[in-house]
Amino acid sequence: MIAALLIGALQLMGQEPAVTGAGATRGPGVTRGAGASAAETAASAAAIAGSKQDPAAVARGAKLYTQHCAGCHGATAKGGPGAPDLVRSLLVLDDEKGILIAPVLREGRPDKGMPKPNLTEPQIADIVAWLHVQTYQAGHRVTYEFKDVVTGNAKKGEEYFNANCGSCHSPTGDLAGIAKRYDPFSLQGRWLQPRGGRGGGRGAAAKAPSKAEITATVTLPNGQSVSGKLEHIDDFNIAVREPNGEYRSFDREGDTPKVEIHDPLKAHNELLHKLTDADIHNVTAYLVTLK
Ligand code: HEC
Ligand code: HEC
Repeated sequence: MIAALLIGALQLMGQEPAVTGAGATRGPGVTRGAGASAAETAASAAAIAGSKQDPAAVARGAKLYTQHCAGCHGATAKGGPGAPDLVRSLLVLDDEKGILIAPVLREGRPDKGMPKPNLTEPQIADIVAWLHVQTYQAGHRVTYEFKDVVTGNAKKGEEYFNANCGSCHSPTGDLAGIAKRYDPFSLQGRWLQPRGGRGGGRGAAAKAPSKAEITATVTLPNGQSVSGKLEHIDDFNIAVREPNGEYRSFDREGDTPKVEIHDPLKAHNELLHKLTDADIHNVTAYLVTLK
């Protein structure tokens, strides 16, 4: 039950209606010719470049996604009735080159409502490339649209910060002088995607990945438990690195062994889903004043 364990990534944010008929894939905002699906238009050229994916693979992946996945996971992978948001899925966010996603696509999760899709390995790689563009784009949603990121109202941003961020951060504590460390563009990327954008990234934000490690506790049937930095998780295996540096790997079968995952950025990330674009601009405008 990886989905339930993975930090409630699924309960977050609004879902979009699932696509059913072929015609339904033509959402608003189609710009690449009449035949383009929402999945194709959802991968902007800037995000493809930024995420360092192969544009041809992404284009193929978009078509495959529309055909095989959109009906359940939504036209742009933000979730559909009964199927999780893949853009915010930790499994997708933590994926590198399909290591985590591919097993799900090879086998499906037939007992959990996802039938085995019959895809070849190259097709799986193409869908993975498209998904990585989506997660990259979600982390940089505003930075593409505004050249000058400091368009917000710093006063309103400060109010928002005090109400929503102040429980974990302080302008005179951990965030003191943050505007000296990052230019405004990087600063915005930094707080929108503290882990530095695994799909790639740019500037100082990308070079300084968060120190906030995801940890996991594995409890074996005999009661013994092992905790450490989460190194790997998929349906069949979990690996953690214990504080003493030892790498421990366990086979998983269903809910055995018991796995608890702790992500220090969970609350930070959940908050980001609730932000409006105006909040984003205002908060960035405020953070830029923390020199
Ligand atoms: C019939 C509906 C359906 C289809 C079609 C489908 N999925 Fe799923 N998918 C689900 C459901 C339901 C889950 C949640 C399973 C669970 O609870 O573990 C899921 C889970 C996933 C996950 C794991 C997410 C996580 O965070 O654990 C990934 C990745 C995924 N699907 C990708 C895809 C891709 C890519 C396609 C197309 C090739 C696809 N799915 C097609 C219903 C579907
Ligand atoms: C529940 C706690 C929590 C909340 C609420 C929260 N954050 Fe965070 N935030 C964190 C953690 C944990 C990190 C990771 C710190 C690290 O990487 O060392 C982080 C990282 C950051 C960073 C990067 C810091 C750096 O030095 O690079 C910024 C900027 C930031 N948050 C701003 C915000 C803003 C703005 C809000 C409100 C919209 C917010 N956070 C809400 C916990 C939180």
